[in-house]
Formats: sequence, C-alpha cells, structure tokens
Amino acid sequence: MAKPDWSAIDALDPPRLAALFAEDEDRVARFSVDVAGLHFDWSKTHLTTAVVEAFAALAKAQDLAGKREALFAGKPVNVTEDRAAEHGAERGEGSEEAVARAAALHARMRALIDAIEGGALGPIRHVLHVGIGGSALGPDLLIDALGRDEDRYDVAIVSNVDGAALEEAFARFDPATTLLVIASKTFTTTETMLNATSVLQWMAEGGVDDPYGKVVALTAAPDKAIAWGVDETRVLPFSESVGGRYSLWSSIGFPAALALGWDAFAELLEGAGEMDRHFRLAALHENAPVLAAFADLFYTQVRHAETRATFAYDERLRLLPSYLQQLEMESNGKGVTVEGAPVGRATAPITWGGVGTDAQHAVFQLLHQGTHLVPVEFVGVIEPGDALADDHHRQLLMNMFAQGAALMQGRANADDPARAYPGDRPSSTILLDMLDPRSLGALIAFYEQRVFVNAVLLGINPFDQFGVELGKEMAKAAEKGGQDFDSSTTDLMRRAFG
Ligand code: F6P
Repeated sequence: MAKPDWSAIDALDPPRLAALFAEDEDRVARFSVDVAGLHFDWSKTHLTTAVVEAFAALAKAQDLAGKREALFAGKPVNVTEDRAAEHGAERGEGSEEAVARAAALHARMRALIDAIEGGALGPIRHVLHVGIGGSALGPDLLIDALGRDEDRYDVAIVSNVDGAALEEAFARFDPATTLLVIASKTFTTTETMLNATSVLQWMAEGGVDDPYGKVVALTAAPDKAIAWGVDETRVLPFSESVGGRYSLWSSIGFPAALALGWDAFAELLEGAGEMDRHFRLAALHENAPVLAAFADLFYTQVRHAETRATFAYDERLRLLPSYLQQLEMESNGKGVTVEGAPVGRATAPITWGGVGTDAQHAVFQLLHQGTHLVPVEFVGVIEPGDALADDHHRQLLMNMFAQGAALMQGRANADDPARAYPGDRPSSTILLDMLDPRSLGALIAFYEQRVFVNAVLLGINPFDQFGVELGKEMAKAAEKGGQDFDSSTTDLMRRAFG
C-alpha cells in the first residue's frame, strides 16, 4: 500500500478554541454525538470542519471502511499473527460463524454459573480470580464500577506476583468457600501460574480436601488448562481470535458475571453491540469512535502532544484510566507499520489519568500552566452513584465542567505571569446518563473502536504485542541461569539474591 499522505493534515492550523466558538454558534451540536445513553462533546477540541475533512480523506486513503468491515467479517486483520480480531462477535457483531461460536461459549459459561449457584461445587461465597493484564483489568473494572449485590459472590482479582497481593485476599477469604478462577489466554503466564499454585496450597492448608475440584479456568488454550489439572467441565474456553486486552466480553468476564449476575453481563454485551453498530453504520462526521480518533491524531500528529489524560469524575470509574492504559498503549504503542516499515510518526500517546476531583488537587497545575500540551478527556455520569445529598454529585460534576471551561478560556494577567493561564487547552467530555452494564459496555467498546481507527489511520497493527516478550524471555532465561546481563543488572541481582 502506498504511504499515506499526511501533508494536508500536517498543514492544518485551526484558530484558538475561543475563536472557534465565536465564529460558529452551532459548534456544540456540530461536534457532539449521542449514542447508547452516552453524550460525547468534542467542541472544546480543535476539531473543525476542515480538520474532520482532512482526516476523512486520510481515512478514505487508508480504507477505514474496508478495514472496519474486515474486522467485523473475521478477516485476519492481525496480520503479524495471521489472525482475526473477533471481540465484536462476543457481543453479536461479527461473522455468522464467529457469533455462533461466541454464543455457544457464553452458553457454556452461563451453565457453569448456574451449576455453581445451584451448589454443584459446594458452598461458594468467595471468588479468587488470578490473571494479569487483559485477564484481570477488564473484570476488575466491571466489578469495581458496577458493584455487586450483597448476596452475590465476593470477588478478589489478584494480578501481581508479589505475594502481598495474594495475602490480602487470603486474609479476607475462607478457603472452604472459595472458588479459584485462573484466567489466562495462553495458560502459560508465569505470574498467573505461580499465583494459582499458591492459592491451591492455601486451600489445601486450609483443610479443603480437593482444591482442584474448586478451580475454574478461563482460557483460549483449554488443552493446557486440562493438562495443568483443571477438570474439563470447569474449563471455559474463548476464541484464540479474541485478544487479551479485548477479552472481558468472553469467558474472561466470568467473575463479573458471577458477581453481577448473568442478566447484567448480557446487558453489558448488548451495550457494546450497540456501540459497534453505531461505529459500523454512522457517517464519519457523526461517528463517536471516529471523531475521537481524529481528535487524538490531530493532537499527536499536528500539535505533537505526547500524552493524553482521562479523568473519571465518578468514583465508580476510578479503574478506567488503568484499563485504558493497557488498551491504548499495548495496542498502539508500535513503531512499525503493518508492512513492517518504520511508522515515521508518533503512535499512541502515553495514556494516563486519574479521578476527579482528586486529580485537580494533584496534577491539574501542569494541565493549566505547564509546558506540555495534554489533551484531556473528562468522563462523568449524570445520575449519582451515591445516596448522599445532591450537593456531592452536583459539586463533582460542576468541578468537571469548570475544569474544561478553565482549560479552554484561560485568564490573562499582564502584571503577574505566574498567575496567568494561557488557555486554549483542549478537552473532550463524555457524559453518561447513568452508569449501568449497558452504558459501561458501550463506553468500553467506544474506546476499543477508537483505538482501531487510530491504528488504521497510522497504518499499524493494534492487535499484536511483541514488545512485551523480550523482558519476559530474559527473566525466564535468567531463572535458568542462561542469560548474560550487563554489569549494572548483575550487580542489582547480586544485591537482591546474593
Ligand atoms: O504480557 C502481555 C500479555 O500478553 C497481555 O497482552 C495479556 O493481556 C497478559 O499478558 C496476560 O496474558 P494471558 O492472558 O495469556 O495470561
């Protein structure tokens, strides 16, 4: 494929945000989208009709429409691994065959949940889920955001191989009523396998006669799970074509389905499916993931922003920034194109963020007056998640709105530069009517498709992650004594291990 022509984009130079508002009274409507109970507002970014048109031309040159259909049709869009990326099929948007396969695996998952709820594994109150990266961050976000009924299962998601993480769960849980869930797409991840082994030992020491009888495996490598000792009836497979960081919709979502109930899990999938359909069908200039990606690329390519920050103004979404870190940086933190040539452009910005209003009192100084340009994304929910007096929620959202306005407006101070705010700092806002499984599903799917659009326009593959392999290999080789290290690393090891 010919190298994409970025010249029209590189030449873009929209005026300041204040001027954009002054010259267009329909700006808010022009750069807002409503879908699946989510309101997106990009009016406080530098998107203009000209900017959107320039990116739409690039999207056409990069065949975004064709690649989007290839994604949903189950074509091998993950070219370096010659694999499809069929997370869409998990929520009903994919080839007939992939959708049917996902539905059958969901049915198997649901049957096991019914059996557990019916007491087939004895009394279960606690679920200790071990997994890391995409096998932990998604379920953790879902359960933390949506909570659980008092009378459902108490779930701990443990990812770190640091034993302190497991000890925390051990202190909370009773081995006699604990289900061990091992989540690993490959079923080879060393941290997860060691954590699983330690949980089995804790169960045995806690008097459980047959710890293996209380293990469930969530994996795309069912044979490995069976060989490891998990009974076939408690292995919940998912498709190899569902990437780890895109897997919360598959059996990896099992702990969330246990904690929230099956109906909630089904609604999550429906909400994501609704966003997928919007992404497939809406025109580019009113397509939420597409416009978001255009704004992302404007800031990384034209204004050379190196980071992007997401602030969740809702305690229930406090894990969203860390979820997005894996989704965005593992997907698009790439240096070569799908053809293997250097990209020659900045790829994924560093994704970071936090929770409002806490972050205002910690990092917002830099956003308002620092020398780095940081496009900000605010995420808020109109319906409060707490039962306290309205003042709390009102103050929370008012702060979010005021921050976006302050970043944009700035304030001159000719007498005292230290007290001047340059303004013209961009932000986008996502406002959910309410936080429920459906809207959360739509929100996460929005982020997934936005990552995809960014990748297509940059010509990179968002679905592989070879960058994580080298360090893993060196650690494994070092354990076996088969790795030579530099003198600094050797010295550090000697200090730690003697
Ligand atoms: O090391 C990165 C990674 O492969 C992620 O892509 C993945 O989500 C995580 O490790 C866990 O992998 P697995 O599910 O195979 O244990």
